[in-house]
Amino acid sequence: MTVSIRAIDPVARPFFAGDVSGVDITRPLSHAEAAAISAGMDQYGVLVFHDQHFTDETQLAFSRNFGALEQATGDIAQGSERRLSMDVNDISNLNKDNEILARDDRRRLFGLGNRLWHSDSSFKAVPAKYSLLSARRIPSAGGNTEFADMRAAYDALDDETKAECQNLICEHSQLFSRAVLGFSDFTDDERQKFAPVKQRLVRRHPVTGRRSLYLASHAGSILGWPVPEARAFLRDLTEHATQRKFVYAHVWQQWDLVMWDNRVTMHRARPFDNTEVRDMHRTTVACELSTMDQAA
Ligand SMILES: [Fe+2]
Repeated sequence: MTVSIRAIDPVARPFFAGDVSGVDITRPLSHAEAAAISAGMDQYGVLVFHDQHFTDETQLAFSRNFGALEQATGDIAQGSERRLSMDVNDISNLNKDNEILARDDRRRLFGLGNRLWHSDSSFKAVPAKYSLLSARRIPSAGGNTEFADMRAAYDALDDETKAECQNLICEHSQLFSRAVLGFSDFTDDERQKFAPVKQRLVRRHPVTGRRSLYLASHAGSILGWPVPEARAFLRDLTEHATQRKFVYAHVWQQWDLVMWDNRVTMHRARPFDNTEVRDMHRTTVACELSTMDQAA
């Protein structure tokens, strides 16, 4: 079989989201298949695979083709509370007995942070490169995931704003993103664990050389700036970067696997009926370096 990638919306966004066919990614990949998918990720930023019946084990094996994996230390469910292993981020509305979390369950309220535009693990010193999200069970309606192309958003900035952004360094933390929704119910341990980390605002893709805005709801300050001014500036940039012309909305089918490059995209979850199950398993490939250690 040959890996084939077709642009999902070739007119408006020629190389943003790609639909991949001709490959069963639940089985071990050939070198050529893995290379074709990596090249597709560099070109597009978001790839969609349909009908991939993953278990956690086969999803982990596929993910390892693209680098070392992250542990799910950003989840607040840890230890005996966890439903899934530490190799897998639990993007579901379920507890460890596979029951739907109550509306006011702390884990659910924390997870609602996913409704804000973000880039996965930007709150870690070495953030995420790729996220791979497998739809195990989906609700009958809603629950889309939207993606915004931060390369196109950067390119569309005027020269003055590009110059202003170029050397800025932001601080990212889940304490900031949850505070946006009024969630502040953190333990002392979590406050320590989620202490802010520094990230460059402008990144350069190591393969394509394209620049992109590295934004996320986790970004709560800019070094050397007063906080309200930093937040107003980041809010303006986010508003710019998430205009519909930069966004692809993925409507899930069960057993879709969507893979995205967190270095060049933001994403957010959309609401759904919480009396229905939505069970998504995310594996995450880590970056090799902090954004502070790469050329701007
Ligand atoms: Fe996410």
